Amino acid sequence: MYKDTNSIVHTAWKSGIVVPGFNIPYLPMMAPVVNALRDCNSFGLIMVARLEWEKFESKSLLAIRDEYEKVKDVKHTRLHLDHVPVIDEDNQLVDYEAIIASALALGYESVMIDGSRLPLLENIASTAKIVKLARRYNVPVEAELGAVMGHESGPLPSYEELFVSKKGFTSPEEAKQFVVESGADWLSVAIGNIHGAISAVGRQQEKPKARIDLEQLAQLNRAAGIPLVLHGGTGIDPDYIHQAIKLGIAKINVGTAIRQPYERTLPQGIPAAQDAVYRTMVELLRHELQIENSVNMLFKQTHEVK
Ligand code: 13P
Repeated sequence: MYKDTNSIVHTAWKSGIVVPGFNIPYLPMMAPVVNALRDCNSFGLIMVARLEWEKFESKSLLAIRDEYEKVKDVKHTRLHLDHVPVIDEDNQLVDYEAIIASALALGYESVMIDGSRLPLLENIASTAKIVKLARRYNVPVEAELGAVMGHESGPLPSYEELFVSKKGFTSPEEAKQFVVESGADWLSVAIGNIHGAISAVGRQQEKPKARIDLEQLAQLNRAAGIPLVLHGGTGIDPDYIHQAIKLGIAKINVGTAIRQPYERTLPQGIPAAQDAVYRTMVELLRHELQIENSVNMLFKQTHEVK
């Protein structure tokens, strides 16, 4: 039997392991990501965010879904729709409902609505609309509260300034209200994590080493009471990642760490670039995330693998 993404993430949350999501900005990256997950007996989500078909080369929701159907392995992977913003990184309004409705109709197995650039009540209202829609498909909804910065093209404050001032960090009180009123299943929080840059000039730059405010995370975990998500997974010290997993992080998003080796190696041809992704993935799964054999834990109780 098929174990759905929500129960997998809940099992991870309860067992202190993490489900990573990997962004696919170029379609040929998907096969080596799936192969590495299978070869390490790990479980992960294959993800696409709107900006990856708008600003990179993942083409469309349909193209990603079709590629996924070719390479998927239900024992090791599920398909997730990452950031669909209500207001995007260029401050443009997005028809988020239409995009998410298309993804659900195409068979995406979990979706993210990102209302984090809205005031609290508007974020709650947009998220609640998507929760209502997704329930019809029995698909879980990830939402975001607080500002995980980095995708914007304008200048950012220095990382140190951001961390010390806690600018944009998710407030535990707001998280509590948000979860109750929106009905979201998983919550992406801002606790010192930042996204890797995506602007043409920033894409290949090394990401600043991010830290995690573990005290803020512990408070959020108590307040939210649902699985928490850590975006900007590239370049965070593994010690922070492992402590964060113990404090409620059940899903971690990783993009830049696998995109940069792909882009750098692409001049040598697609197979070489795919190989670079595969090797980076194995390293990440084994050593940074330490989730080799996570499938055994995640599917242990029920053996609900198709
Ligand atoms: P990084 O590119 O910083 O790993 O972040 C990925 C992410 O959070 C996508 O939602």
